[in-house]
Amino acid sequence: MLKHKDLLGIENLSCGEILEILDTAESLQEVSSRPIKKVPTLRGKTVINLFYEASTRTRTSFEIAGKRLSADVINISASTSSVSKGETLIDTAKTLDSMASDCVVVRHASSGAPHALSKLLKSSIVNAGDGAHEHPTQALLDAFTIRQRKRTLTGLKVAIIGDIAHSRVARSNLYLLTKFKSHVWLCAAPTLMPVAMDQMAGRGNPYVHLTHSMEEAVTGADIIMMLRVQFERMSESFFPSVREYSRYYGLNRARVGQAKPDVIIMHPGPINRGVEIATDVADGPYSVILDQVAAGVAVRMAILYLLLGGHGSTD
Ligand code: NCD
Repeated sequence: MLKHKDLLGIENLSCGEILEILDTAESLQEVSSRPIKKVPTLRGKTVINLFYEASTRTRTSFEIAGKRLSADVINISASTSSVSKGETLIDTAKTLDSMASDCVVVRHASSGAPHALSKLLKSSIVNAGDGAHEHPTQALLDAFTIRQRKRTLTGLKVAIIGDIAHSRVARSNLYLLTKFKSHVWLCAAPTLMPVAMDQMAGRGNPYVHLTHSMEEAVTGADIIMMLRVQFERMSESFFPSVREYSRYYGLNRARVGQAKPDVIIMHPGPINRGVEIATDVADGPYSVILDQVAAGVAVRMAILYLLLGGHGSTD
């Protein structure tokens, strides 16, 4: 069992804890291929999905994960709850805690929102994405997919390319992969590379590399992880045109050819086809985008199981 009450980020997890989550996910994965995709492990536990931002994959897979473990899962979205009447995050969350929820999975536009709740609530808190800060379950499902394909998380060249500035996925993956001593190449246009990343590289972490050249990032890469351009978080223009962006920072077949012959192409979704990734690459033989989605269910089952102290059989 994890020694934490909550899962707030990757930064404070040890390699041992990460491996425990991945190993648990591996053993729970098989439940999803049974004719009856359900085990009684979390019977009587209540999981609440509290999403203040749009989501398809993360929210659905938390719901499926909870249901496959027999938990009761309730979904709350900001637009249909009292949030639209002006209720604060803290009042909403305390209300849910008073109904004896066991776990609140929260996505919020403000960095640190889940951390604030974790101090106030008895329920376990899982961060499903807080602003541009962290998205730990995404990094864990990415690690699950990488380990499945590459049999290791160590010594890899991983190129993370795109809108680094607005990406909680980039940050959580950077923490995770460098803990395991893989080399992470962050690649973005100068306007989309945050100063904090410079500081992280500048602090002498030998596993973090920054570049504005896509060619440098992809050459010899074991993994290319593309990030969506997060137009909804941009109040100003960060590049002259979408066409120019995709010419310099879009993944096409020619660029895939510069990577290792057994490269895998990842993307957390949703994808902007023709912007950061060409359609034939997204749907092509190197793409593991849908494997990532499948891994998301197993990893989120593992997290709920480990946090809520599942008992009983998983047979
Ligand atoms: C990501 C997110 O919300 O941070 N998506 C996801 O969870 N699969 C990335 C994105 O929205 O681009």
